[in-house]
Amino acid sequence: MEQLLSEIMILRDGQTPPAGITTPPRQARWYDTFSYIANPERFCSQNLEKYGPIFNTGVFGSKTIFVGSARANQMVLNGDSKYTEIALPDTTMDMFGEYSLFQRPALHRERKNALAPGLTGEILAGYRPRINTTIIDGLSKWTNTGKISLYPAVEKICFEVLVPLLLGVSLDDTNPKSFEGLPLANSNQLKSLYKTYFDGFYGLSKWKSPLTSYGRGLKARAKLLEFMRAVIAKRRLSQGEINPKADFLSMMLVNQQQNPDGIFSDALIENQCLLQLWASHYEISALVSSLIYQLGRFPQILDKLRSEQAKVVGELSNSKTFSSEQLKQMVFLEAVIKETLRINPPSSTANRRLTQSVVLDGILYAKGCTIIAEPRLAHIMPEHFHQPELFEAERFLPPRNEGRMYEFIPFGGGVHACLGAQMAMTITKIFANHLIYLFDWQLTGEASFVQFPLKKIKNNYQIILQKR
Ligand code: HEM
Repeated sequence: MEQLLSEIMILRDGQTPPAGITTPPRQARWYDTFSYIANPERFCSQNLEKYGPIFNTGVFGSKTIFVGSARANQMVLNGDSKYTEIALPDTTMDMFGEYSLFQRPALHRERKNALAPGLTGEILAGYRPRINTTIIDGLSKWTNTGKISLYPAVEKICFEVLVPLLLGVSLDDTNPKSFEGLPLANSNQLKSLYKTYFDGFYGLSKWKSPLTSYGRGLKARAKLLEFMRAVIAKRRLSQGEINPKADFLSMMLVNQQQNPDGIFSDALIENQCLLQLWASHYEISALVSSLIYQLGRFPQILDKLRSEQAKVVGELSNSKTFSSEQLKQMVFLEAVIKETLRINPPSSTANRRLTQSVVLDGILYAKGCTIIAEPRLAHIMPEHFHQPELFEAERFLPPRNEGRMYEFIPFGGGVHACLGAQMAMTITKIFANHLIYLFDWQLTGEASFVQFPLKKIKNNYQIILQKR
């Protein structure tokens, strides 16, 4: 019997669990997948109320245990190579491809460490002026007064921010040089190919055909990789040395030049460009649009954010660039973003499969089961968050200091914790700062959300803008 942490017991094959151990409650039901996909929040809250934070389901056709308590989340999110493996549907794994951090566990740590500098720390801080100018430029195109469709408008700006930072490609369609030598003609083609790729991730049919989202997704993936290859070739042909701090792609190319036998093969670089744009774009767009929606619901919070902004920044102008230090001082803004992530977590963590049986806190998690650490459970547990039904940003600030590790999991945690969390927070903070300085807005009733695979406000939901 192997003891991992003092509390987690990994059972050898055939080993009988100690006496007095129970299994999670609830029988798997044939319709669980439909109930979950139709409304993951309702599915989680109803079962939490009836069975507690750990229960069996039949989601995705196998025995799938949902967990929400901090200790169980910690167990799930740190089992890689010891007692869990990533277990997403085959269609999803094909979309990720073999260079994803979800594949090849033996290479995970090395790959993740090598990718991190391009998305965090000093290089991320260097992206900040460009994030500012792109958001100012994007918001300047929002109408002065009138209705806009919230999610598509936010998504457009996020795409314009992320593509240059990750791929170093300018999305200025008025400049003929932007797409010169590339197999796509403009930013719309790139965006729509990405959408087809994204939709392919959750196609349930494995039929490779233009009639299935999986088939179309795979085709889009191949075309996007071809695009990435052309971007890399163009960069290598460009004059002068590549600046490793210019964008995520440049960081990888310079690392490859310096360590020709290192981990950055051309295939890894192309795939990482593809994957990081995928990982970032929809999630950040979902977060920013949910934030705008929540601020529309609570004008008093918007007022408080404006007071904080004035206190930290003083005199403002339309072209203000927010410094890293100023963003750090905006603690209330950070708390409001976290509360938005708590109430509207864009995604769940990936499914894991138990490769060994595990016992924790008297519960047996049997080998072969799938297991999911669900923010939609963890974030509504009164043991983790006082009066979880209320939108209260102050809960993340002293003296309450709610949202401890493994209780607050919008970015996952443990081995596969999100590599882009800092980047997501930076972009969202800058977006929010410009927006609250430039605009007032009203909601047009209660928003409906697409719940799966990502939680995001439906495309047709509008807000009414007024320039301040
Ligand atoms: C609001 C924005 C975001 C949210 C809510 C989010 C959420 C998540 C979650 C829940 C995971 C953990 C998956 C798991 O353990 O199963 C994850 C992993 C990951 N995220 Fe994010 N993410 C966001 C933004 C980003 C950005 C901006 C990037 C990169 C540019 C990124 C790159 C990644 C990568 C590479 C992983 C896998 C890490 C690993 O396997 O070790 N994410 N993200």
